[in-house]
Amino acid sequence: MKTKDITNANRAAWDEAAPLHRSQNMEHLKAAFSEPGYSCLDKVETAVLLALDVGGKDVAQLCCNNGRELLSVKNIGAGRCVGFDGAAGFIDQARELAVAGGIDCTFVCTDIYDIDPAHNGMFDLVTVTIGVLSWMPDLAGFFGVAERMLRPGGAMFIYEQHPILEMVEPGKPEDPIVWEFSYFRREPIIDSDGLDYYGGGTYKSKPLYSYVHKISDVITAGIKVGFVVEHFQERPEHISNTWYNVEQHEPQLPMSFTLVFRKPPLVDGK
Ligand SMILES: C[S@@+](CC[C@H](N)C(=O)[O-])C[C@H]1O[C@@H](n2cnc3c(N)ncnc32)[C@H](O)[C@@H]1O
Repeated sequence: MKTKDITNANRAAWDEAAPLHRSQNMEHLKAAFSEPGYSCLDKVETAVLLALDVGGKDVAQLCCNNGRELLSVKNIGAGRCVGFDGAAGFIDQARELAVAGGIDCTFVCTDIYDIDPAHNGMFDLVTVTIGVLSWMPDLAGFFGVAERMLRPGGAMFIYEQHPILEMVEPGKPEDPIVWEFSYFRREPIIDSDGLDYYGGGTYKSKPLYSYVHKISDVITAGIKVGFVVEHFQERPEHISNTWYNVEQHEPQLPMSFTLVFRKPPLVDGK
């Protein structure tokens, strides 16, 4: 299947999930964002963003979902903020949350691979957080979009689940770990159990296509588009709503990672 076929199929499945997530999240998020300065970001993400001097910076978030993370980035001091996501149902929720909080962020509904070139060179920081890279059939193509959106000297911040988790079926704390997929798997994982990762349930969903991008794939795809690796840390923190069985496992596996790519600054105007 081509990249476009995969991203179209995934968009349909994400759109299908949007009403369920709305019923699970919107009420409490609207209340949270009505408090001035509210941030849903955890300590790790907040620390990296502050170390990147996010204050006043123009920030784009790729795959922003319902916008709660980007709205939080704005609330900790960012400048112009624009979120991009392919699922119209989630973009609607992001816009509603922005209105509820009186927060000045813009949300654009588009496949990331098709982001309008009008956004090229318009940002100091591009963020990608928690549950995004595995949906991307073409990692270098995805990073290439971030690279073209950044100003020279800008940074791409990635805070993601560790890809080793893709080898394991998620479960409850008491569930044993069952190694299911190879870390070196190339073909997509096709799943029809839905996206109820807040409720922990399943439903018969439209097919979802995800990928195991091993850490070396992530790093080399960034280098391929011209980024320099500025920061990379594998971490023990569990940042999804899913792999509680892995979190409880001893010996401990890496659960997440933080990565900062830098777009080299211009030298002598070139
Ligand atoms: C798990 S959410 C992650 C986002 C956010 N960190 C969160 O926790 O809500 C993944 C998002 O990626 C979006 N997405 C997946 N593939 C995409 C693509 N090719 N273009 C645009 N959005 C995409 C989905 O619509 C979904 O909102």
